[in-house]
Amino acid sequence: MINNWLKVNFNDFFTKKAKQNKFRSRSWFKLDEINRKYNLLKPGISVIDLGSSPGSWSQYTISKIKPNGKVIACDILFMYPINGVKFIQGNFCDDEIFYKLTTVSKNKMQLILSDAAPNISGISLIDNKNFYNLLTKIILLCRKVLAKNGNLVMKIFYNGEMNRYMKIISLLFNDIKINKPVASKSKSKEVYIIAIKYKF
Ligand SMILES: C[S@@+](CC[C@H](N)C(=O)[O-])C[C@H]1O[C@@H](n2cnc3c(N)ncnc32)[C@H](O)[C@@H]1O
Repeated sequence: MINNWLKVNFNDFFTKKAKQNKFRSRSWFKLDEINRKYNLLKPGISVIDLGSSPGSWSQYTISKIKPNGKVIACDILFMYPINGVKFIQGNFCDDEIFYKLTTVSKNKMQLILSDAAPNISGISLIDNKNFYNLLTKIILLCRKVLAKNGNLVMKIFYNGEMNRYMKIISLLFNDIKINKPVASKSKSKEVYIIAIKYKF
């Protein structure tokens, strides 16, 4: 009971702190924790931010890679502009948007972030299929635009398929870590895969 109370209030803490600091969402703290741990964002790098709205990951990213770094953000939903961030509105699994993402930058990306999650239906067969489609597109995007030794941070949901996802990703990267940031709601099954050093 007390444990539950602590968890709920801890989550409130991040929401309040995000508001106070004018971060667009509490997700800011998740990326901050991941970045502090794995040191992914360096000045001058180019980053794709998938599932970017309302924009706290883009805010965080541009603050770490400016003045010469580049962020290309994409979401089905509208995102209010952020200085230094190029926003593409649409579903990145659709061919047209996917093509835009692969052509908008002439140079390769050093990091792909994905906080995107398909709508959860509760029917595991459908949810796994939707998630698998998302994963396939993200891997295809790595093949097209990720630089050798680049990194990928991707949200996934902890379930029976997770080992399969990990196996697929580990074929492409030198190292794979799993992180559940403190700011991630404890009842949520979300975890983040941090895939380090793209092999190709
Ligand atoms: C948890 S929110 C992301 C929060 C964001 N990282 C931030 O810091 O503000 C997940 C977002 O993923 C987007 N999304 C899910 N599937 C997508 C897809 N296939 N293409 C583009 N955006 C997608 C949703 O519209 C939603 O805005």
